[in-house]
Amino acid sequence: MSAGEREPVGVVGVGWVGLVTAACFASQGHEVWAMDVNAARIESLRGGELPFHEPGLGELIAEHAERLSFTTSMEELLAGSRLLFCCVDTPPTYSGDADLSRVRSVVDQLGGDSDHALVMKSTVPSGTGQSIRRNLPDLSYVSCPEFLKEGSAVDDFLHPDRVVIGADAGDEWAADAVACLYEPLGGELVRTDVASAEMIKLASNAFLATKISFINEIANVCEEVGADVTEVSRGMGLDERIGNKFLEAGIGYGGSCFPKDVSALKQLAGNSGYHFQLLNSVIEVNELQKRRVIGKLTKHLGPLVGKRIALLGLSFKANTDDMREASSLVLSARLQGEGAAVAAYDPVASTGAAGMLPSVELATSAEEALAGADAAILVTEWPEFAELDWKALATTMKRPVLVDGRNFLDPAQMRAAGYTYEGIGRGVPAGG
Ligand code: UGA
Repeated sequence: MSAGEREPVGVVGVGWVGLVTAACFASQGHEVWAMDVNAARIESLRGGELPFHEPGLGELIAEHAERLSFTTSMEELLAGSRLLFCCVDTPPTYSGDADLSRVRSVVDQLGGDSDHALVMKSTVPSGTGQSIRRNLPDLSYVSCPEFLKEGSAVDDFLHPDRVVIGADAGDEWAADAVACLYEPLGGELVRTDVASAEMIKLASNAFLATKISFINEIANVCEEVGADVTEVSRGMGLDERIGNKFLEAGIGYGGSCFPKDVSALKQLAGNSGYHFQLLNSVIEVNELQKRRVIGKLTKHLGPLVGKRIALLGLSFKANTDDMREASSLVLSARLQGEGAAVAAYDPVASTGAAGMLPSVELATSAEEALAGADAAILVTEWPEFAELDWKALATTMKRPVLVDGRNFLDPAQMRAAGYTYEGIGRGVPAGG
């Protein structure tokens, strides 16, 4: 590729990572071919319809539509581009290992082609790249893990902290071509070998999950000793060695990545003969954290049989309609198991949630969910929940008990508005 010339890009899989990758490269002036085996999804993308909610993505696709081609044909993809970004999902199997069947199917379709490079963005265990390279020695292979977050994916892609590019001997041309694509975005380019690049991804997600489980345990201790975890994390986060990100206590992490990647790393270590003890605790703390909310409710309501509990928010975090591993799924099941009736409202996830929560009453507004409720749990930190007229809403509830699972609202204001307010890790100091 000569200076100024733009490399056409191929993307396999138009899920979150694939579609964001395709749209963002198109926005940088590249021709992009995006391929998926799901014909219905490709058809609706051609018609400008997005398969999920992601801020800014629809606009970006519409703006750069002339450079974006959607196809179900691998031949078309191969003819259009040398660099094929593999963005298929790698969900967990029953054992917690990553399921690589979709990755394998992509590799099988590529064969041992020496004109193309497979650029792996899907999260795969360390060793995957080397094994693909062993089986198909002519195919060039680059590991380029994705670090974008749902809800801010476009911005994360266009303004990366770092871009990790792993390649082994013989594949330098492909690594250089990938580096050319990312250079204009800024962010440090980390050039390394394939196995280390794969490990950077898993270790980063596992470390962030560990940070969350750590602060959640600190929150639980804060409740015992009358400290406020939001003050504690503010004080801790100012230490540059610790940093203030991912130190927000809550009802546990969810989503399609942290739960999957923590268990994938644990399994990867186990399969290679190392018992990764710390990760067992990270997982266990996260599971228990979701369930602690039930104790907070029974403290105020007694047994939950026959009580109506309102869930505010269903998605695993704000700005996404993704319900995968969302705390709301565990919570609603536990509440119903205790005999409570559950009503829920989410600004964007309700439609998709209907099939997953058949026995939950899905309200069309927060007001509707809260009316007549014995208690409410704020599950997702949607900005619109800060704007509610909480004082007026307290009078519509049977009992104004609120468990703020994200420490999103101001405890003093909520108490002044008439609520029995419980946050996470916000112990009341002695005499307070
Ligand atoms: C995560 C990583 O942050 C991305 O860097 C990575 O690319 C992505 O996984 C992936 O592997 O694809 P994501 O799952 O979209 O991104 O969401 P996060 O914003 O990281 O949040 C994960 C969970 O942690 C959410 O349930 C969130 O509510 C929770 N969380 C986050 C906390 O409980 N406390 C915090 O301080 C931060």
